[in-house]
Amino acid sequence: MIKKNLPLASFTTFHIGGPAHSFIEVFSEKDVQEASSYARSNKLKLFPLGGGSNILVPDAGVDGVVVRIALSGIEFSDHGDSTVLIAGAGVPWEEVVEAALARDLFGIENLAGIPGTVGGATVQNIGAYGVELEKVFEYADVIDATNGEPKRITRNEAKFGYRTSYFKERRELILTRVALRLTKDGMPHLTYPDLLKASASGKSLKTPQEIAQIVRSIRAEKFPQRGELGTAGSFFKNPILSKELVLSLEKRFPGLPVFPQSNGSVKISLAWVLDHVLSLKGFSIGGAELYKKHSLVLVAEEGTTAAEVDTLARAIENKIFDALGIKIEREVETFGAR
Ligand code: EPU
Repeated sequence: MIKKNLPLASFTTFHIGGPAHSFIEVFSEKDVQEASSYARSNKLKLFPLGGGSNILVPDAGVDGVVVRIALSGIEFSDHGDSTVLIAGAGVPWEEVVEAALARDLFGIENLAGIPGTVGGATVQNIGAYGVELEKVFEYADVIDATNGEPKRITRNEAKFGYRTSYFKERRELILTRVALRLTKDGMPHLTYPDLLKASASGKSLKTPQEIAQIVRSIRAEKFPQRGELGTAGSFFKNPILSKELVLSLEKRFPGLPVFPQSNGSVKISLAWVLDHVLSLKGFSIGGAELYKKHSLVLVAEEGTTAAEVDTLARAIENKIFDALGIKIEREVETFGAR
């Protein structure tokens, strides 16, 4: 059933935003085909919505068809050493993690505690504590909204990068099912500083369950708990810069955390810069604030507008440009701004 003028705030973790021109919830491939045909015949843009945990909906709303992806179900198929988990794109990511843990499967335990759906997680190539979703991605089934055709996008075609993928470039591909390859005899990935610290303090981090539990407790310290405040997690991406530029920044800002990438460029920690160089923790505009417990996270108290969030984000972007001479990118997407 198509709903008109439906307020979107409650479908986002920011709890912000105006209405959708049209809103449809889809439970099957056929529903996705019908929704895309409706958008085509009414010449409206299509906006797939997962858990709403990485988007900012403008106060004026979205002039298009918001398609809430609600395809459900988790299946497993065993292939000797590995097990493929296949989930409907609307399954909450945490349910996928739990299903893997219940079978003692390694692969996504470092990604425990992340909000959103498995579809959103894939588009975004979620990453945390040294692991990104691309590491376990096998394939995704999609419907091409331009013609309603189903397609399968494999690992080689998915072009994953830091918080990006082929699915971000090709917005007309609506994910319906995602397959992840997990293993029983996996190795714990404990290279990330927070996990090394937990391991050094004597915590046992051998099983996927143990690792997931520690990751959840680390996250609980840093990120606002669901419902407490509106948020979409990290608001900006960590900048990836040339080695030369990073060397000069390290001289100016001793202690800057740096993460060399496989292609020779270097990722720097923006949270550290916002905290230690610019002292911006708690910086606020209206009800929008740079979170006091983690400076890459933007939070919004009840009643905050998207305009306030955007103004705060712009102010931060300008301050970083003035201090470091670099343009930072947002990780959170503004719906309708593409
Ligand atoms: N730091 C500060 N002050 C702070 C927070 C952090 O100085 O207020 C320093 C930390 O001490 C550390 C560095 O900044 O040296 C990095 O912080 P952290 O380990 O918390 O990770 P992050 O780079 O800020 C990224 C992801 C998170 C993910 C964490 C953990 C991005 C944009 N964010 O954050 O993902 O959970 O690593 O792996 O890559 C998200 O994408 O929404 C998200 C939450």
